[in-house]
Amino acid sequence: MTRSRITKAVVPAAGLGTRFLPATKAIPKEMLPIVDIPTIQLVIDEAVRAGITDVVVVNGRNKVSIEDHFDHAYELEHTLRSRGANAAADAVEAVSTMVRIISVRQKRPLGLGHAVLCGKAAIGNEPFAVLLGDDLIDNDTNPGIGQLAKVYEQTGSGAIAIMEVAPGQEHMYGIVVGEKDATGHLRIRQMIEKPKPGTAPSRWAIVGRYVLPPAVWPLLEATTPGHGGEIQLTDALRGLAESPEGLYGVVVEGIRHDAGDKLGYLRANLCYALKRPELREQVLALVRELAQLT
Ligand code: G1P
Repeated sequence: MTRSRITKAVVPAAGLGTRFLPATKAIPKEMLPIVDIPTIQLVIDEAVRAGITDVVVVNGRNKVSIEDHFDHAYELEHTLRSRGANAAADAVEAVSTMVRIISVRQKRPLGLGHAVLCGKAAIGNEPFAVLLGDDLIDNDTNPGIGQLAKVYEQTGSGAIAIMEVAPGQEHMYGIVVGEKDATGHLRIRQMIEKPKPGTAPSRWAIVGRYVLPPAVWPLLEATTPGHGGEIQLTDALRGLAESPEGLYGVVVEGIRHDAGDKLGYLRANLCYALKRPELREQVLALVRELAQLT
């Protein structure tokens, strides 16, 4: 059976960015750079490398900068070229042609499940990806969301990225329980959004990548506020896990960074800087120097 390929994605970007204030007072946290690339560009690059052509960005307030970032900037490109800064101009131009961006607005901060539901009209009746900007999955050859798309294409079931987190961290994540079946992936039986410390039924945590069938729309519409009084994506996905098609937890390959956390953000910056040949040696020298100072 051939299943439709995943070509559309929802990227929620309507959060208040409270953990990065005051930096996020006037710009969305998704525009904070990892070295010199906005987090959302890294996330969308992952999607593009997995064959995604259309990205629905769910915006809150202060989000024009995201639209501008993925738009042409003729004056800037022209000025850079007239100064001979062609590499910079090429980099600026490449961002504007990488993907089709569809902007929708989440008018009230009602939660992640509600944010994804705001993409319904733009996505329609087809399977789609969801990528959260707080999670970076660094894999140059096998993009994280593509690993999930393959599982969807093979099984026809929704697939979500999971990783085993350290003991004591479970309360910060959606946690799943299940057992491996013939596919080699975890058939999810139980899921709980941010269990109270000490109560988690496993250490399999959801990391922000999902490939979902359109059957999730009515489930999202029927989801009532859960953890934190918000409409949680995890609660809607429980309905998929209980359906005959089921839901798979897929251990994604790649280095995961929690860019939504201050230390995780700094770590991501260092790790991505170390991947850049022109920066690597200097960054290593800097880290060694700082280590000796303390
Ligand atoms: C969201 C999801 C949670 C998931 C996490 C991954 O939570 O609700 O299930 O484990 O992303 O980063 P958030 O971190 O947005 O509070």
